[in-house]
Amino acid sequence: MTVTAPQETTVPSTDLSALMREGSRAEHTSAENSPFMSDLLGGRSSVDRYTVFLRQLAVVYEAIEAVGDALASDPVGGAVVDRALVRSAAIEADMVFLAGDSWREIPVGPAATAYADRVSETAADPVRFLAHHYTRYLGDLSGGQAIGRILQREYGLAADGVTFYDFPLVPKPKPYKDGYRARLDSLPLDDVTKQRVVDEVKVAFSLNEALFAEIGLSPVE
Ligand code: HEM
Repeated sequence: MTVTAPQETTVPSTDLSALMREGSRAEHTSAENSPFMSDLLGGRSSVDRYTVFLRQLAVVYEAIEAVGDALASDPVGGAVVDRALVRSAAIEADMVFLAGDSWREIPVGPAATAYADRVSETAADPVRFLAHHYTRYLGDLSGGQAIGRILQREYGLAADGVTFYDFPLVPKPKPYKDGYRARLDSLPLDDVTKQRVVDEVKVAFSLNEALFAEIGLSPVE
């Protein structure tokens, strides 16, 4: 009897987390290479510009975290919501450190408003909320960890100004991210619905890029 070895084939994963990562690979590269990010991480930006950026992120995270609160018990949205990730209090503390108590007077531009509006819509569509949650928090727990250190090094920012990148309740990002992906992958979503998530991840990346472009153009030195 001839025994033939099972044929090796590479079947693309249909796990949601893999689809999200693969589906946004080009967008990620583009965001990484955006002039705003390159300048910020290359030491060619300024604390003032970073402060304007963080002020924009404040409204984005307020929206994500308000929808997160609303969806905490939702079978889909609740799979990712976790108070260990919440950033609004850290952003507020950083903004007070960087700009003082009147930091909310720093204007919020159209890009951040459009981003926050898009996120707020997802209170009625938890499937799309997954995309916004993933794009920001998994980014913060990945490249974001290096970004916090670079900001300190390049701009002499004290640790008190970059608590946004500090997740005291997530001491080890790697296993946390693995668990997060496992929770996404255990959701019983059909292929069409998974594709809706991937499409919204691309939207989330483009909203980030629009934000970077707007800050890059702002007359802050
Ligand atoms: C210069 C800026 C950036 C750098 C250096 C960077 C770097 C990285 C690295 C090294 C990873 C992989 C981490 C791992 O394997 O666990 C990663 C993952 C990720 N990044 Fe970024 N990133 C940057 C900007 C961004 C931006 C602007 C966003 C979105 C707003 C973002 C969203 C993500 C997401 C969602 C992941 C998780 C991918 C996955 O495993 O599913 N990143 N980033």
